[in-house]
Amino acid sequence: MSSIQPGVKHVFATSDRLENLPPYTLAKVFQDRDAKVRQGVDVIDLGVGNPDMRPPQHAIDTLKAALDDTAVENHRYPSFAGLPEFRAAVASFYKTRFGVAVDPATEALALVGSKEGIAKFMSAHLNPGDTLLLATPCYPAYLGASALTQARVVEVPQLAKNGFLPDLSAIATDDARRAKIISVNFPNNPTGGVETPEFYNDLLRFAREYDLFVLSDIAYCDLSMDPSYRARSFLEFDRDKERTVEFHSFSKSYSMQGWRVGMAAGNAEAMAHLLKIKSNTDFGVFMAIQRAAIAVLSGPQDYCARVSAIYRARRDAFLAGVKPLGYPVETPRATLYVWLPIPRRFGSSMDFTRELLDKTGVVVAPGSGFGKAGEGYVRIALCVPEERLNEACRRMAEAGFRY
Ligand SMILES: Cc1ncc(COP(=O)(O)O)c(C=O)c1O
Repeated sequence: MSSIQPGVKHVFATSDRLENLPPYTLAKVFQDRDAKVRQGVDVIDLGVGNPDMRPPQHAIDTLKAALDDTAVENHRYPSFAGLPEFRAAVASFYKTRFGVAVDPATEALALVGSKEGIAKFMSAHLNPGDTLLLATPCYPAYLGASALTQARVVEVPQLAKNGFLPDLSAIATDDARRAKIISVNFPNNPTGGVETPEFYNDLLRFAREYDLFVLSDIAYCDLSMDPSYRARSFLEFDRDKERTVEFHSFSKSYSMQGWRVGMAAGNAEAMAHLLKIKSNTDFGVFMAIQRAAIAVLSGPQDYCARVSAIYRARRDAFLAGVKPLGYPVETPRATLYVWLPIPRRFGSSMDFTRELLDKTGVVVAPGSGFGKAGEGYVRIALCVPEERLNEACRRMAEAGFRY
């Protein structure tokens, strides 16, 4: 309850914002997982998208050099927006990778991980009751961040039958008219779905028609399990940055998830709003980490191809294990996930997840945690070696987890 009795002070009464937060589905799964580990079960954790690769050597070398530098500069408070060199590196990354011009002074920001930026972007632009169009299933932080703003979330399902692209024509006109923002993420966590140029053109047309702002998230743009696929930025379509902010991360492309560094690029006015929130609530990214991130962005990009090949081999191992069990699973072209449909005999993705953990010690993420459209699936994170994926499939077969 947000208050115990109207008008009566209660010190620990929570805010309406907090009360509006949905339960964190994965937290429950992690509790069950930890209980199994305590019981001595050999748990195979395919639940978390937590890369298990060592970051690029030049990131580590640059961080070490920055720490060894006897000047105190790196240890001082960073600027809220990020070092000018960091923002310049973001701009040259966008130029080289996507052919998009970004003004480092006004159109690029350093973030303490993109999760931070996404949540603050939402709180900078959404009032309670405002409408947000959210393509789901989605990264669960979107559900949490939008709930904290108390906005009205209209989920736009991205389903297998539509190639895992949101069906814009299914959005009620009234919802489109009322909405302020539409949020998309390609390549997509959790489905592994990828954008098409046609979809991005339609999205821009739709956003212009209904005067919407586009929040685009390209956290997985350089994890291509299919070498013939090369992800695009939405800024290649909204080149004037008329209505887009795009978030990107060092966590997946460079396995630097513990370092907490990300970036935003896009519309200057929206960036200024995000910066205003940031300057009141955080102090930017440790400068030694920004220097390592600059080295990564400006250095050779072969790391991404190498880790993508590892994820591809893991994907193939997992699919080779579950397809003979009858699972009608799509082959994801990017990300580090497999989006696995569950057998109909299970009441829900949570039931499947619980029973699987109980009988096999394999942890997966129930689809319901990714939004309503996620029910009927579980997400497999390919963050364990191939042998463990083979072992997970072997246990599923042995315990009768056929489709
Ligand atoms: C789609 C998507 N966006 C953003 C993030 C957050 O990344 P970061 O570590 O930069 O906060 C994740 C993390 O899993 C993600 O899947």
